[in-house]
Amino acid sequence: MNLINAIHRKIFRIVSISAKNIKQDCYVIGGYVRDFLLGKRDYKDLDILTIGEGIKLAKEVSRHIKPKPKINIFKRFGTAMLEYDDKKIEFVGSRKESYYLYSRKPMIESGSLEDDQNRRDFTINSLAISLNKKNYGELIDPFGGLLDLKKKILRTPLNSDITYSDDPLRMMRAIRFASQLQFFIEKNSFQSIQKNKKRIHIVSKERITEEFNKILLSKKPSVGLFLLNESGLLSIILPELTLLQGVEERNGHKHKENFCHTLKVVDNISKEEKNTIWLRWSALLHDIGKTSTKKFLPEVGWSFHGHELVGSKMIPKIFQRLKLPKGESMIYVIKMIKNSNRPISLIGNHTRDSSIRRLLFDMGKDIEDLIKLCIADITTKNSDKKNLYTKNFYFLMDRMKKLEERDRIQNWKSPISGNDIMNTFHIQPCKEIGIIKNFIKDSILEGKISNNFCSAYFLMLKKGEELGFKKITKK
Ligand code: CTP
Repeated sequence: MNLINAIHRKIFRIVSISAKNIKQDCYVIGGYVRDFLLGKRDYKDLDILTIGEGIKLAKEVSRHIKPKPKINIFKRFGTAMLEYDDKKIEFVGSRKESYYLYSRKPMIESGSLEDDQNRRDFTINSLAISLNKKNYGELIDPFGGLLDLKKKILRTPLNSDITYSDDPLRMMRAIRFASQLQFFIEKNSFQSIQKNKKRIHIVSKERITEEFNKILLSKKPSVGLFLLNESGLLSIILPELTLLQGVEERNGHKHKENFCHTLKVVDNISKEEKNTIWLRWSALLHDIGKTSTKKFLPEVGWSFHGHELVGSKMIPKIFQRLKLPKGESMIYVIKMIKNSNRPISLIGNHTRDSSIRRLLFDMGKDIEDLIKLCIADITTKNSDKKNLYTKNFYFLMDRMKKLEERDRIQNWKSPISGNDIMNTFHIQPCKEIGIIKNFIKDSILEGKISNNFCSAYFLMLKKGEELGFKKITKK
């Protein structure tokens, strides 16, 4: 069993003994084998295939583990999952599948190991390793999956038209694997995706988005995004993006090719592995407002004036359609896109502190991400310009840091509360309280008073008197 390392040896030994006890052959199959052969160290969930009943094997395995693990049984699917040492192990009986035209849920009947390998999406995912005594550790590779792994090729075991048409989610999976693993999709296979693209409609939005997110989380998402575009899937899933394609020329003026630019921005932001999926979505959608705001002004050339605001307003519909989460994540993406042009307008020695304070106030803790997005947005090939623009943002960050240290704006909380105002003037809740609070906030952001209770208190008295209130001292 040279192929399997020590950490997993114990689990496989238990599974092997259990399978022998109930006289069912068994194999480890799918993503675990693929990633193991690719030398990936991160542990994947384990898929155990048995020629017989998956649930029966899972139950037998659980008898050999102490303390007895939790076992989840999915009777309808004939599968079971148990957790061992923080790892999920799925047990499934080998099966044959046949599909209906309008559903990706197959009709299932039991089958041989070969039937089971046939029904899988790619040759690299059909690789199985025997856990049976007679050939323990042997790789069972009926479709040349190992060679495909070496050649970095994604190929379907059976006719690709059938594989993709049966389960169109596999089109997304092919492109996701191409992006994650930096593999090529075999020519025929890619043509099948182009041919079957409309079948994506039978896949739930959640599953499509799950794969899309995996593409965005890969090291170089442009690989997957280009393939999505070439296959025709992108115009079905995210037409707002494909509409950015093309360059127009008028009176010798050309504008940027906004689709390729966007993909570069996404790649730039993805260079830092820790950058979140929502920062990546912000990069992906940061220019979508350009399609409807595009204008040619004879004296100036091409203009996309206001595209940030227009783009940010498009986000709720897109999130709703793709079943992306609303709430904080969506608000973050909206905020990033809406403000994406502000930092550049603050570059230069003449910028007033108050403008920087306002941006700090509006962005709060997300200011760093906004600057990251702005730097990622520099896609010029001219390295002198690129360095200069980047440096400008570093200067701006430096100024922000100093202002923040002095004025503490990012997590700003009014030094005077509504209650302070009501108690001072002995008044009931009314709109004037908001007016006073806003006046204090604006005065702090403008640098007219310091950000502390004392300065804010005196300003409150002044503004209150202007509004006709009198300070009441309690006896
Ligand atoms: N599979 C398939 N068609 C699908 C989904 C999965 O044929 N639409 C098969 C593949 O053999 C795959 C296995 O089921 O390897 C397990 O699927 P899953 O856990 O979803 O994917 P992994 O390949 O393990 O990869 P990842 O965990 O990265 O998604």
